Amino acid sequence: MTTECRICAGPVEEFLDLGRQPLSDAFRRPDDTRPEFFYRLAVGVCGTCSMVQLVEEVPRERMFHEDYPYVSRGSAVMREHFRGVAERFIAIADDPFVVELGCNDGTMLRTVAEAGVRHLGVEPSGGVADLAAADGVRVRKDFFEEATARDIRAADGPADVIYAANTLCHIPYMGSILRGVDALLAPDGVFVFEDPYLGDIVEKTSFDQIYDEHFFLFSARSVDEMARRHGLELVDVERLAVHGGEVRYWLARPGVRPRTAAVDALLAEEAELASRVVLDGFANRVQKIRADLVALLTDLRERGERVVGYGATAKSATVTNLCGIGPDLVEFICDTTPAKQHRLAPGSGIPVRPPADFADPYPPYALLFAWNHAEEIMAKERAFRDAGGKWITYVPEVRVL
Ligand code: TYD
Repeated sequence: MTTECRICAGPVEEFLDLGRQPLSDAFRRPDDTRPEFFYRLAVGVCGTCSMVQLVEEVPRERMFHEDYPYVSRGSAVMREHFRGVAERFIAIADDPFVVELGCNDGTMLRTVAEAGVRHLGVEPSGGVADLAAADGVRVRKDFFEEATARDIRAADGPADVIYAANTLCHIPYMGSILRGVDALLAPDGVFVFEDPYLGDIVEKTSFDQIYDEHFFLFSARSVDEMARRHGLELVDVERLAVHGGEVRYWLARPGVRPRTAAVDALLAEEAELASRVVLDGFANRVQKIRADLVALLTDLRERGERVVGYGATAKSATVTNLCGIGPDLVEFICDTTPAKQHRLAPGSGIPVRPPADFADPYPPYALLFAWNHAEEIMAKERAFRDAGGKWITYVPEVRVL
């Protein structure tokens, strides 16, 4: 199947179909009997600009609204990560104006606000925007697009930094976004964004990074092409360890900043990344993980062993719905996010419970859905291991640890 690229209108060839999937962050109340929304989750690659993207788009209002549950503050590692980013932005110019797209609960901007630096968060999900505002962050409850950008520019002046973490890849209508960036960015400003990196996703076979909200899987090559088409330049890239491997892209207006050697090095590394040979190999490994995980969980159930999920991630929706994992295979999922607790995970109907339930009593096996936070979680849950508990992971392959 071929669709039209959302960046360059080139032909997008599908290479992986992950089936019928629900909204990954729609945690239902147990008494909610309304039918769930489903769409077909499939991913393809543009033959012209190499952008990897979903072939079907979920309307943004279905995903980002008052009840959107994800909060950035749920991980100590991420809080520290965003504090470090904020400090760099604060020091980027005299009296800078820092705008964040999709500021979520204000985890990054809070540091900027506390330093008395001019800032604005743009966040369409009302509940998490309220958390940011309660922490002293200036927030506009809105989707960022060209008109919003012009409005902000008229009211607040040009932005020295426009930043987006785990947000830009969520937005299919990139033309409006980049025209907005052009309208809002100061002549020597930077547009910085970080998202899961296609290179890491392919290398680790982390197929659960593919879900409704992750419309694009960026690479240096596809971002470079995208920037050029919109009068911007990719001037720097940083590889990040967070969220299972991300890249932070720095864009500027042409000629404003020299392009670093890191950009050329990553482009060279990616020579074959968007090829059908590599992407078809990825798709085949996904099917192997699916078969192995189903076999392991079925075997454990037959042996009467309890399995509890750890971290009701958006990513886990892709895994449970692709593999047909329900409460018969995974008893419940523990998660620290209040807005997810005592609800049912999307599609699978697996109950979500507070972390205290994990230890009451410890199950023999825990399926680590939040594998991208493995270090933090395993350190925190040492007592689970000490009690004889075993972790099950499926990235980069199914293993019992
Ligand atoms: P995350 O992997 O950050 O993102 P996504 O939902 O986009 O896949 O989600 C981590 C989830 O795991 C989040 O719901 C919070 C939860 N969590 C815990 O329950 N305990 C922890 O120690 C950590 C770090 C996260």
